[in-house]
Amino acid sequence: MAKYRSDPVEHKVDLGVGVYRDLSSNTPILACVRQAEREVLAGQTTKSYIGAAGREEFNSAVEELVLGAEHCARRDRRARTLQTPGGCGALRVGAELIKAAAAGAQVHVSDPTWGNHAPLLGGCGLKLARYPYYDGATHEVRFEAMLERLQAAPAGDVVLIHACCHNPTGADLKPAQWQAVAQLLARRRLVPFLDLAYQGFASSLDEDAVAVRMVVEQVPEALIAVSFSKNLGLYRERVGALIIVSENAARADAVESHMLQIARSIYSMPPDHGAAIAARIFADAQLKRGWILELDSMRTRIQEMRDLLAQKLQEVRGDDAFGFIRRQHGMFSLLGVPREAVDRLREKHHIYMLPDSRMNLAGILPQNVSYVAEAFAAETRVEQLGGAARGS
Ligand SMILES: Cc1ncc(COP(=O)(O)O)c(C=O)c1O
Repeated sequence: MAKYRSDPVEHKVDLGVGVYRDLSSNTPILACVRQAEREVLAGQTTKSYIGAAGREEFNSAVEELVLGAEHCARRDRRARTLQTPGGCGALRVGAELIKAAAAGAQVHVSDPTWGNHAPLLGGCGLKLARYPYYDGATHEVRFEAMLERLQAAPAGDVVLIHACCHNPTGADLKPAQWQAVAQLLARRRLVPFLDLAYQGFASSLDEDAVAVRMVVEQVPEALIAVSFSKNLGLYRERVGALIIVSENAARADAVESHMLQIARSIYSMPPDHGAAIAARIFADAQLKRGWILELDSMRTRIQEMRDLLAQKLQEVRGDDAFGFIRRQHGMFSLLGVPREAVDRLREKHHIYMLPDSRMNLAGILPQNVSYVAEAFAAETRVEQLGGAARGS
């Protein structure tokens, strides 16, 4: 970020930072958020404490948004929801809960995974393990290897799965693969910890929650970390939730009281402002319709940049080696080049991405997509020549 900011070149391109950008390269405040915020401020009568669980109406609306109105876990009163400071807060409270319930349990995370998973989950002392997830050569999920590894995990272990828009690869499980994973989790008595940070960024609010709902139907216990940083653009307001599902209502009550204790011991209570805005949007039919339209337009813009970049790369290279960019979901994909190529893209072309070549597709604009594609093609050609030279 610092290098990008201090680069004086006008045509520099930031594909590094993990936030949505619109056609003006801005990370906008959604119109529904502006409207809801005005209403929240106008109706606010106190700034008094709100409690460790946060807003009740927020929590129940989030549960419905994620699990759906009719889900069996809700019907049987097995789900409990806690408002948290962002998705990160939910991940950490979830990790502390696992630690309190089963200190020896390992948490299996995908290889690769989002860089903050290790500190958030491992930071409380839980042991982390990695399961194979992404094949850099085919740009697909290494599904058989993933199943094989999870098959061998001891009962009671936890499996963290990105619910949609995998960060950093953009490669998601297909519906039949989700089914197989859910069956394996149930059979092996593994506990799913679903990370839902991009609901609405792959297909739609409902479709992006289908896998979560299906997994939760098949297992006795689950954790879901929810973030509204991206889909409501509320990043700095820290709006998220932890949903837990237990075997029965009595256990859910006990887990809920543990969750509240954990929240109190870490941050006391979550910030209210963003959740008040979100709750208003969820409750007001007109604001919610507006949100869904804005979410559609964010998703469409990212997909258009995916299509355009893959098409330009195809034109410049004369092959479809980067066709996977078109097929993946969410803001991120891995370009799949070594660190030296990432450095050259930055130094020669002023294109910034993460060292593992993760690129944020929302950083691309129609006016710079050709420039980016040509730079990618130039540097991947050099890579291939380098590889050929090394091999010869
Ligand atoms: C995979 C994943 N999980 C969780 C989060 C949580 O984000 P936040 O704490 O900002 O809500 C993010 C944000 O980038 C993410 O990419």
